[in-house]
Amino acid sequence: MKTRIAVLCSGGGSNLQAILDAIDAGEIPGQVVLVLSNRKSAYALERARVKGIEARFLSRKELGERYDDVLLEALQAANVDLVVLAGYLSIVGPQVVAAYRGRMLNIHPALLPAFGGKGMYGHHVHEAVLASGVQKSGATVHFVDEEADHGPIIAQRQVPVLPGDTPDALAARVLVEEHQLLPACVKAFCEGRLDEKKRVDR
Ligand code: GRF
Repeated sequence: MKTRIAVLCSGGGSNLQAILDAIDAGEIPGQVVLVLSNRKSAYALERARVKGIEARFLSRKELGERYDDVLLEALQAANVDLVVLAGYLSIVGPQVVAAYRGRMLNIHPALLPAFGGKGMYGHHVHEAVLASGVQKSGATVHFVDEEADHGPIIAQRQVPVLPGDTPDALAARVLVEEHQLLPACVKAFCEGRLDEKKRVDR
């Protein structure tokens, strides 16, 4: 029985694409059945549509406090087993976190617990890393809990911070690792090798 996967995105969806490509290559015993975004213009939705995958824009403006109810309904209606936050720049409400505890992954473009939490998204992360003077950065996949970028870490991949790095250059170097790490963690989940207690170094 293939794991039914939903992917939540807010942007270009290159991490979504990495998962789709790994599935097409037969590397992941799962199928992406739903892609949701809080941004109508997210190219991730287009990536799903061209593959005939249900792709829905959920408007916080229109839905207001019903947003999380509608999100949960959409996930349950699609019989989703695993939720992946791949560049999803919105907070997942507590009822959704509770419903998918241990079955919801997030990828963050830094070595958590450093450079995570409020305001740490996109280029802000890489700017903070560069400003800190650390020699390494990287990507983290973790289980999602009630706090942003806080749940149990599943796996990380490191990259060097190089002299003269710009946020763009560092982001690009980290993204290469994200595209390996996230599919590997999704694969581990689909193969039953992930649980919240056990860290999987990929
Ligand atoms: C990635 O760097 C991810 O770590 C961060 O947002 C970016 C999403 O990129 N959360 P994409 O939309 O998957 O291309």
